[in-house]
Amino acid sequence: MSSCGTGCGCGSNVPNRPTRPLITKNKVNKDLQHYWETIYNVVDHEKSGWYEKKPEPTIQLIEKSNISKDDHIFIAGAGTTTLVDYLLDNNYTNITVSDISSTALEILKERLKDQANTINWLVDDLTHPEKLQQILPVDLWIDRAVFHFFTETEDQKTYIDLLNKLVKPSGKVIIATFNLKGATKCSGLPVRRYNELMLKEKLSPEFELQESFETLYTMPSGDTRPYLYTLFKKL
Ligand SMILES: C[S@@+](CC[C@H](N)C(=O)[O-])C[C@H]1O[C@@H](n2cnc3c(N)ncnc32)[C@H](O)[C@@H]1O
Repeated sequence: MSSCGTGCGCGSNVPNRPTRPLITKNKVNKDLQHYWETIYNVVDHEKSGWYEKKPEPTIQLIEKSNISKDDHIFIAGAGTTTLVDYLLDNNYTNITVSDISSTALEILKERLKDQANTINWLVDDLTHPEKLQQILPVDLWIDRAVFHFFTETEDQKTYIDLLNKLVKPSGKVIIATFNLKGATKCSGLPVRRYNELMLKEKLSPEFELQESFETLYTMPSGDTRPYLYTLFKKL
């Protein structure tokens, strides 16, 4: 274990950074999974450097996406996000929640109590997707603070291939990352920062940008992190 030292606000020790196994294709990266399991075991998730009492910027883009209450919403790297509570409270009925950490999803399930039974839960690795390949087509894909952890081109490509495969034609994608003024690390891991053009290039030519904005997120510690929020439409 080492001190987080990223200013992410978790105020905790974090496990040592995972190494990349040599053979990982189509297998969950166990080191990475262990890393995130440990984070959720040692950090109070409500004090983490990404916790939101209400995920306002994402809600703003969901409202602009014009999706219906029964459309299939997929949350990539959901962690323990309060976005799920918002979606249930607002009568969205077809939700798949996924993360590499089963601990995070268990915390979320416990909070949701009986409502958890209405959700499809999936533990899998977005960069080595196995079970994720089998989910039904998606009308809205939501990723806040996940894609930016994929610093290797190969991992980014695997993620975008999955996005292309799962999102329906005319389906929508919300991706929020640290922007170019953002931190270079989160939770002890390096991140890739983006501006609007960089994300457009990653998602083209299959997706067109519909909306984007930058916003300053205040962490539970009081520190701030500048984010970029984007809404794309599949062509
Ligand atoms: C900074 S947290 C953000 C959590 C949530 N999206 C939110 O906004 O509250 C990043 C999340 O991505 C998950 N994650 C990291 N790498 C992943 C991967 N390769 N596949 C799936 N989930 C991953 C972590 O377990 C963690 O829950």
